[in-house]
Amino acid sequence: MTRIVVVGSINMDLVTQAPRFVGPGETILGDRFLTVPGGKGANQAVAAARLGAEVALIGALGRDAFGDQLHAGLAAERVGLDHVTRLDGSASGTASITVAGGENQIIVVPAANARVAPAQVEAAQSLIGRADAVLVQMEIPLETVEATVRLGHRLGVPVILNPAPAQKLPIDWLQLARYVTPNQHELAILLGADLHEDFRDLMRRSPCPVVLTRGGEGAWYGDGGDPVHQHGFSVEVVDSTGAGDTFNAALAVFLKDGLPEAVRKACAAAALSVTRLGAQGGMPSLGEVDAFLRQAG
Ligand code: RIB
Ligand code: NA
Repeated sequence: MTRIVVVGSINMDLVTQAPRFVGPGETILGDRFLTVPGGKGANQAVAAARLGAEVALIGALGRDAFGDQLHAGLAAERVGLDHVTRLDGSASGTASITVAGGENQIIVVPAANARVAPAQVEAAQSLIGRADAVLVQMEIPLETVEATVRLGHRLGVPVILNPAPAQKLPIDWLQLARYVTPNQHELAILLGADLHEDFRDLMRRSPCPVVLTRGGEGAWYGDGGDPVHQHGFSVEVVDSTGAGDTFNAALAVFLKDGLPEAVRKACAAAALSVTRLGAQGGMPSLGEVDAFLRQAG
């Protein structure tokens, strides 16, 4: 069984589906409200588990009602929670999300996620040493992201760094990640480049291999040479929240099949994920990805 370790955030997503986004000082009537589990770390863990991997999550929750619900939800998805700490005196992370026309706007309040410390990663050294791949994103402290990338590199375990939400990172440890998986905007920020620079040029001069996602257009990947394009799969978009998380999880799970095949499956899994409301709503099983790819040809 493929073993995946995810280091990252756990949020309760407060999702409002509305006919459009609001402006400052404006009130409109929405269509639907949902309280659903999210957070980039938890989403990637759940997506990897649904794809058949044995998954352990390293993260933090508050000792509040959301924390209880999120913990139970992750356990029900068979995500290993031995390294998820419950913090006294801290709320669990939340994300206030508006979904309109298949697009989203998100405000994350990290709360407990801001206290996921490097020591928690170091305490999981033997777990990480046995993993086939490690996933990490940036809704937790940067020093913890760095500790994850450095530990994975030291143990010879590939680390996939999903630089979201984006910030500029020091090249000395960024280059220790096996792959970074930004979208176009995130890659520009990550490298401290002009936001209008062509993404292929950015990919060519990235210090580590990039797998770049472009929504419905699919993904581009490369390691030095000319980036290769994997086309996207066309589906009806209900909610794109969590599509990137599904992509990253699938990339990690299928990495053993080689990068081109992993990227193809990741694009398929991400496409399926956007067809239902909620970050984890449409995340597919392995069987669903295979059936979808057979049909897509
Ligand atoms: O990537 C999607 C996630 O980003 C949402 O679930 C939300 O919690 C934010 O963290
Ligand atoms: Na979804």
